[in-house]
Amino acid sequence: MCFYCGCREIPLLRDYIAEHERVTDLGADLTKALRQDDLPTATHLLADIAAKLEDHWRGEEGGLFTAMREEDGYAEYIDKLIEEHRELRDLMATADLATNRDRELIIAAMDELTDHIAKEEDGLFPASLTALTGDQWERAMSAWQRAHGHDARSGQEHVRHGEFG
Ligand SMILES: [Fe+2]
Ligand SMILES: [Fe+2]
Repeated sequence: MCFYCGCREIPLLRDYIAEHERVTDLGADLTKALRQDDLPTATHLLADIAAKLEDHWRGEEGGLFTAMREEDGYAEYIDKLIEEHRELRDLMATADLATNRDRELIIAAMDELTDHIAKEEDGLFPASLTALTGDQWERAMSAWQRAHGHDARSGQEHVRHGEFG
């Protein structure tokens, strides 16, 4: 978790981090529900996490990732992060929580999601602070706003509605 580099002072990164924290909390609840064989709760949580991650990934991939991909040396790192998004999306879409195997796969995936988030918060986000220009930040923020149903607009602060407000 990034507490020291200033990421949390940047509105866009602060919003990404808030989404990470929300999904991580839900992931812990999901793991607990699966361990307790509470399938109705687990099914609901899985759908909730999948929906929240779709918005989150759209914001990341269309925004910060696209901007950072324009910088030398980051393409491979970002492609790997996107691959991890796809793998988790596929697993969540196809997992059958009635089977032991898929329950264990989901529990492992929630663990791996923590590692994925650490790569972003401890690697990509701090790097973006020094790498990106003002124009690239504007585009990254617009993508986040589009992904969350806002009108694209410029400015340092964006108004938030709904679940992540
Ligand atoms: Fe990600
Ligand atoms: Fe993320």
